[in-house]
Amino acid sequence: MANLLDVNNLSISFTQYVQGLNRHDSKVISDLTIDINESEIVAVLGSSGSGKSLLAHSILGILPYNANVTGELKYKGNVLDQELKEKLRGKEICLIPQSVNFLDPLMKVGEQAIGECKDENEHDEKQKRQREIFERYGLDESVDDLYPFELSGGMARKVLLSTALIGDPDLLIADEPTPGLDAKSVEETIEDIRNLKNHGKGVLLITHEIDVALKTADRVAIFYSGYVIEINHVENFKNADNLLHPYTKALIDALPRNGFKLKEGVQPLEEVHGCPYYENCPIRLDKCENNIPKLEEHDGIMIRCFNFKEGNDES
Ligand SMILES: Nc1ncnc2c1ncn2[C@@H]1O[C@H](COP(=O)(O)OP(=O)(O)OP(=O)(O)O)[C@@H](O)[C@H]1O
Ligand SMILES: [Mg+2]
Repeated sequence: MANLLDVNNLSISFTQYVQGLNRHDSKVISDLTIDINESEIVAVLGSSGSGKSLLAHSILGILPYNANVTGELKYKGNVLDQELKEKLRGKEICLIPQSVNFLDPLMKVGEQAIGECKDENEHDEKQKRQREIFERYGLDESVDDLYPFELSGGMARKVLLSTALIGDPDLLIADEPTPGLDAKSVEETIEDIRNLKNHGKGVLLITHEIDVALKTADRVAIFYSGYVIEINHVENFKNADNLLHPYTKALIDALPRNGFKLKEGVQPLEEVHGCPYYENCPIRLDKCENNIPKLEEHDGIMIRCFNFKEGNDES
């Protein structure tokens, strides 16, 4: 399987001015490393505010102006700089955005989904595809002529989803594609995402919905407070004993109690100097307080923990 996207040591911080004078840099993504291969779906799970959308926006080159970014992104082996991001955006790399505010309020949704075309032929082809995909999601022809404000929340989600699929991307970044959708549309979305994979494409699937991630993905990356703490194969999520990080284990163990939803807001708000999970960790070591473990590979699984073997391996 060839490598499609490589994110290496990505960090994102925002410069903010406290009380108008003091410059303060707040780090929201730290040393993030993740990769996606052709024919692979990688899910990203993490609670609200853990940096998932920022990762998506950095791949697309649409971060806000005050974001400071370090690290390297590569797409099909080429450095993915801002110029290349703009060239590929909406074509080889498509985004299903989390927010319906990404829709242009002044443009009818049919034309908006078709997007820019170089000539009439391309427009006709894309229009045919747009109709097929809209139809698939239950959006009949009258929807083409609606403006975004005339859509319900669920319809707007389906338009965003269709728009990304019309682009026929090699890499799809799906940022929470399913909330608010009826059960049938969720199943169709999962099927469409799996279809892309079956056609050799790669998908980064960002979601709060663990059941969607586990049904759809090949590998699952767990975000915690701007760090990737574990990337594991989906089959290992069936049993918490096969997971390595104490947070991932706790998360999966607690699922039935939490109605299979991620718990919100357990992440430290202050900048930490050691492991981001230190305060809550049942197997922490002294060194975890002031040292940040690196993301390391063990038998194809990535783990960021000094003590993931239940205290036996203090390396
Ligand atoms: N323009 C900005 N300026 C300052 N901080 C920002 C900015 N954009 C995002 N952040 C902060 O970055 C952190 C990560 O945001 P992000 O939107 O990536 O979270 P998320 O994991 O996608 O959350 P959710 O699950 O709620 O969508 C948040 O704490 C957020 O407040
Ligand atoms: Mg988000």
